[in-house]
Amino acid sequence: MKIAVITGASSGLGRELAVSAAGNFPGIDVFWLIARNEGRLQETAKLIEPEKAEIIPLDLSKVSSLGLLEEKLKNEKPEIGLLINDAGVCFMDNLGEGSLSEQLQMVDLNVRALMALTHLCIPYIANGGKIINISSIAGFCAIPRMSVYSSAKAFVNTLSRALTEELRPRKISVTCVCPSPMDTPILVTGNLKGRSKKFDSLPTCDPRKVADGAIRACLRGRAMFTPRLFNKLVRTLAKLLPAALMVKLMKV
Ligand SMILES: NC(=O)c1ccc[n+]([C@@H]2O[C@H](COP(=O)([O-])OP(=O)(O)OC[C@H]3O[C@@H](n4cnc5c(N)ncnc54)[C@H](OP(=O)(O)O)[C@@H]3O)[C@@H](O)[C@H]2O)c1
Repeated sequence: MKIAVITGASSGLGRELAVSAAGNFPGIDVFWLIARNEGRLQETAKLIEPEKAEIIPLDLSKVSSLGLLEEKLKNEKPEIGLLINDAGVCFMDNLGEGSLSEQLQMVDLNVRALMALTHLCIPYIANGGKIINISSIAGFCAIPRMSVYSSAKAFVNTLSRALTEELRPRKISVTCVCPSPMDTPILVTGNLKGRSKKFDSLPTCDPRKVADGAIRACLRGRAMFTPRLFNKLVRTLAKLLPAALMVKLMKV
């Protein structure tokens, strides 16, 4: 039995990725849908074949949740065809101001949980399997007022690149997905709207199109998927311009 493990599957991009994977990714028997909100995970399950979905309500920022997943993997020894690390939070504040708890959530979920789940899953990923890591254009360069979020996403980019090489002998591909802002619940939970004219005026991505593009990119074994021309431009500029200039251009 081959499974897909999808975090952040209860809303936004993660839900769209689950739906797109169910429709377009071949050979998956069961989808492990992970997030905290059980009711919203059930709604995602209804959008794919409910009998193909296993709901796993967990707070991934807690070390105990990672322990539970480790036990589940050891007991069931599934063959993982697809791992999607989507769960993430985003808050906007200068470090040293506002809430430490929000800054810690970004490290605990966007960095530690993503790394730990990937570590736990790799032994069970089938040769030729796929990993999708959800990053952001924020991962291309340092962003003042989003210093922790941009650092967390840069971690995802670097980890994905290194893993691509580590897992090449097993023909497991790692696709890092870097969209610009999307109209999803993260904008509300992170209180991100109306805080920065520049952030509010960035070209947005449609989560459904990002999800379909991400699944296509991973099936082709691409290392990075950056939707929209504007985001590709940001990615290119981040490679060409001095970091000191880029950081000023990207300040939100
Ligand atoms: N929307 C954007 O502007 C944007 C742009 C670029 C990149 N991204 C990235 O896209 C990914 C998905 O975000 P989204 O835009 O789809 O926002 P979203 O709708 O808020 O999705 C976030 C997902 O993460 C889950 N989650 C949050 N905290 C969790 C925790 N402690 N444990 C387990 N799951 C948790 C949420 O489910 P529960 O609340 O049920 O736990 C939800 O399923 C994130 O990695 C984000 O950084 C978003």
